[in-house]
Amino acid sequence: MSAGAAKGRFIAFEGGEGTGKSTQTQLLADALRARGIEAEISREPGGTPGAEAIRNLLLHPPGDGWNARSEALLFAAARADHVARLIRPSLDRGAWVICDRFVDSSRAYQGGAGGLGDEAICALHDFGSEGMRPDCAILLEVDEARLRQRLAERDGDTSDAIGGRSADYHRAVAQSFRRLAQSDPDGFCILDGTGTADQVHARVLAALAPMVDAAR
Ligand code: TYD
Repeated sequence: MSAGAAKGRFIAFEGGEGTGKSTQTQLLADALRARGIEAEISREPGGTPGAEAIRNLLLHPPGDGWNARSEALLFAAARADHVARLIRPSLDRGAWVICDRFVDSSRAYQGGAGGLGDEAICALHDFGSEGMRPDCAILLEVDEARLRQRLAERDGDTSDAIGGRSADYHRAVAQSFRRLAQSDPDGFCILDGTGTADQVHARVLAALAPMVDAAR
């Protein structure tokens, strides 16, 4: 990065499964590139070879699976590698990073629905990733009935170790996300994830307009 060049921005899409995060990650990166902004797409768990290997352990666990604490540690370990090897270097060279999930997923799934509490998850994140936060976490919300329909179409009977958990677990995840976002209005942006991909994308661009305009 040359002296005085702007650092990139870090945007994370958050929400339960089927809320449209992956689609919106791609659409936002395309829109930024069309405006001449370098944009890197990534996802969690994953994003680097080490973190992708941990992703496989988490979503397709060997043996009897992980307990709540080991699961949280694995997410934090994957994230630490992702931050150190991909996210920070990309931001430092001026690129934007658009990530499908980040630490708020651990706060909602493991901390909230999994019962470990927010303090424990934030402590792991402070150690693993020096507490790194996105510039904006965009929470996509879709009501439960629509989500059930989307997921049946997308996954059928196949789901991973976490996606396949009970409806109560996923309801608790959605409630945790909402609580986290409402308690930090500067860090989050809550968006309606219903409608077509283009309609949701327009909401995303409107929410990020000040940041995007400042980068050009
Ligand atoms: P993925 O297929 O990427 O999610 P989606 O179905 O939304 O496309 O699978 C990631 C799974 O891991 C998903 O069930 C959410 C879960 N997860 C956590 O429990 N904690 C975390 O910190 C992250 C990043 C994901």
